[in-house]
Amino acid sequence: MTNLRASSHFPVGAPADSAHRFHAGNGSELPEVPPLPVMRVDNLNVYYNDFHAVYDVNLAFGRHEITAMIGPSGCGKSTVLRCLNRMNDLVPGARVEGEVTYHDQDIYAAKVDPIAVRQHIGMVFQKPNPFPKSIYDNIAYGPRVTGMKVESMDDLVEESLRSAALWDEVKDKLKQSAFGLSGGQQQRLCIARTIATKPDVILMDEPCSSLDPIATSKIEDLMQQLRSDYTIIIVTHNMQQAARVSDRTAFFTARPDETTGNRTGLLVEFDRTTVIFENPTDPRTNDYITGRFG
Ligand SMILES: Nc1ncnc2c1ncn2[C@@H]1O[C@H](COP(=O)(O)OP(=O)(O)OP(=O)(O)O)[C@@H](O)[C@H]1O
Ligand SMILES: [Mg+2]
Repeated sequence: MTNLRASSHFPVGAPADSAHRFHAGNGSELPEVPPLPVMRVDNLNVYYNDFHAVYDVNLAFGRHEITAMIGPSGCGKSTVLRCLNRMNDLVPGARVEGEVTYHDQDIYAAKVDPIAVRQHIGMVFQKPNPFPKSIYDNIAYGPRVTGMKVESMDDLVEESLRSAALWDEVKDKLKQSAFGLSGGQQQRLCIARTIATKPDVILMDEPCSSLDPIATSKIEDLMQQLRSDYTIIIVTHNMQQAARVSDRTAFFTARPDETTGNRTGLLVEFDRTTVIFENPTDPRTNDYITGRFG
């Protein structure tokens, strides 16, 4: 079992349980529900002060699968994503109820260290956010501050940049500022930075929304490559992207409260991506994917 307590020693090296690698593809050959979920969300409710932002979400994220979360703006996708590695701890007024488990451990349990959680469950943000440091130091930063035991930092930097399909483009300018890279390169650098601390799960919140189609396609290819080593959960507004890259899709919407008019997000349907896009059960899903809503 993975230990998330503050004093725990973190396994570094290959993500746990590589023997169970599950190359799903996004066809209908996938089992109906993830057989060995890496993470589960049970009865998740999220509030920002008095505002009920997300209502009663239940989800399971399969190992070495890509799960997409889609839905109209404000339906709570980012909020749910942030609950998965306790990033909402950093948002003033945010309160999380229900259970989020990682390898059957409640990540909100009293003794769990949120920093440890984020080491196992890394995050890539919407806007590329490299540190004001060199390309090399952006990658080395996480392993250094978390005290990871690293035999050769040069090797780890190279391996991370290779995994993020960026090495060939930057290998001759590792000491130059990360700000000199293009937007698409910066986003791959941020993915490399996340990979460098050897997470198990990678969360991505609209990672391509500020990128052009070529850079987007590079990130999508990269996600397919990363799937064999990581479990990926991505929020996207781009339905073609969800259909192209993901194995399973969760469709959210927002329901206005009759008295206050506040819009609370809820999960409408969660299924294999092929089912969501070709034969959804709920008419609200159908309306959204056919462009009639949202
Ligand atoms: N820090 C915050 N404080 C207060 N309310 C917030 C905060 N963050 C989000 N919300 C509210 O919670 C609801 C869900 O927001 P969230 O950002 O999760 O939606 P989203 O589905 O990611 O939307 P988008 O597609 O526009 O990114 C919205 O009504 C939003 O205004
Ligand atoms: Mg969002």
